[in-house]
Amino acid sequence: MPFTANRRVKANPHARLLTSAKGPYYYTADGTELFDTLSGLWCSPLGHAHPKIVEVLKTQAEKLDYAPPFQMTNPQTVHLAERIANLAPAGLEHVFFANSGSEAVDTALKVALGYHRLRHEGQRFRMIGRERGYHGVGFGGMSVGGIVPNRKMFASGMMPGVDHLRHTYSSEHMAFSRGQPNWGAEYAEDLERLVGLHDASTIAAVIVEPVQGSTGVIVPPVGYLQKLREICTKYGILLIFDEVITGFGRMGENFAAQRFDVKPDMITFAKAVTNGIIPMGGVIVTDEIYNTFMTGPENAVEFAHGYTYSGHPMATAVAHAVLDVMEEESLFARVRTLEPVLEDAVHGLRELSSVKDVRNIGLTAGVDLCSADGAPGARGLAIFEKGLREGLLLRCTGDTISFGPPFISTPDQLRGMIDGVRRLIQFVS
Ligand SMILES: Cc1ncc(COP(=O)(O)O)c(C=O)c1O
Repeated sequence: MPFTANRRVKANPHARLLTSAKGPYYYTADGTELFDTLSGLWCSPLGHAHPKIVEVLKTQAEKLDYAPPFQMTNPQTVHLAERIANLAPAGLEHVFFANSGSEAVDTALKVALGYHRLRHEGQRFRMIGRERGYHGVGFGGMSVGGIVPNRKMFASGMMPGVDHLRHTYSSEHMAFSRGQPNWGAEYAEDLERLVGLHDASTIAAVIVEPVQGSTGVIVPPVGYLQKLREICTKYGILLIFDEVITGFGRMGENFAAQRFDVKPDMITFAKAVTNGIIPMGGVIVTDEIYNTFMTGPENAVEFAHGYTYSGHPMATAVAHAVLDVMEEESLFARVRTLEPVLEDAVHGLRELSSVKDVRNIGLTAGVDLCSADGAPGARGLAIFEKGLREGLLLRCTGDTISFGPPFISTPDQLRGMIDGVRRLIQFVS
């Protein structure tokens, strides 16, 4: 099982079997109802079994179940690319489809290498990631990622030339921030230092999650992303926002790029684009990047990269239905109204002595617990396992609990989720 304590699950598999889902709830084999506090794995903001999407799946399977994406396409995939580009900041106009966040990231890194090479700057090969960053598990994403356990076992397989910015989290300066912390923009200057060390002429791209999700919702300091953009522009370095979690409304805007008013050169997306129902990911690139590839002989393949399932018609049909529902039900506006509800509720946990930090932005929040003496991660695991008996499917990494509830949640469900977590924290403390 992926990212799982396999032996622990096998010791008690029954407790971990999800057998059905409806709206914001999962149901286990023994019939327990679990509130879906992370929208699956950040990917199901519309909740589960939405009737419109179920219907689309049936009709699409009858109409066009698969279409090869090499040298062929289909109208709905073309239309989806236009639709996604229209949601992105102006100037990001073209989409390349993949099937996961990891594939989207590796695609973006390859686009960066190809772009510079085509502009006769092939010596730009370095990628800059960030400590605590998560960009999936491909060799590219792993290399630019910054979560230690994901890296150390595979250290010999890292891409060459990758370096990392420091992460921006400081409990001393930003604990219990609501929204963006006011401290820490100067961390963007790390990029100047890396330019000083490696020389800009060797650096292809910087990749960051605008909000670091998997490491426990690390919110960018005010001005930090703007500063990164300025430095990238100054040195001709491409800026990639990995929006696999933040894309499609999680920040109350189409993309975090709009929430933070910073335009990257590429955006990677996945997860919510299909509400997690069928795998899909992709990269949105600027006109400038696209046009750079559209050179050379007209009969030549411009970008020697792609997947059998790029732009899979079942996934594109679902994505259209998801975007329709998001529009019809004004779900991004709903995120904006739910954000203060979640913020107020989750910051109420501050009163508990074992809570070390609470932070939030959009419809996300992170809560750090003090670790039990000599047993880091034990509290998080105990809370997760007890939550399964108390009606909450939680995401605990170490002693951090991350929240990313469905956009369809009601204010009462969000408050109920946090009340439940309060009881769990009290129980294990
Ligand atoms: C920011 C980010 N990038 C990439 C990925 C990898 O996505 P996948 O698991 O679909 O490969 C994730 C997954 O959580 C993510 O959060």
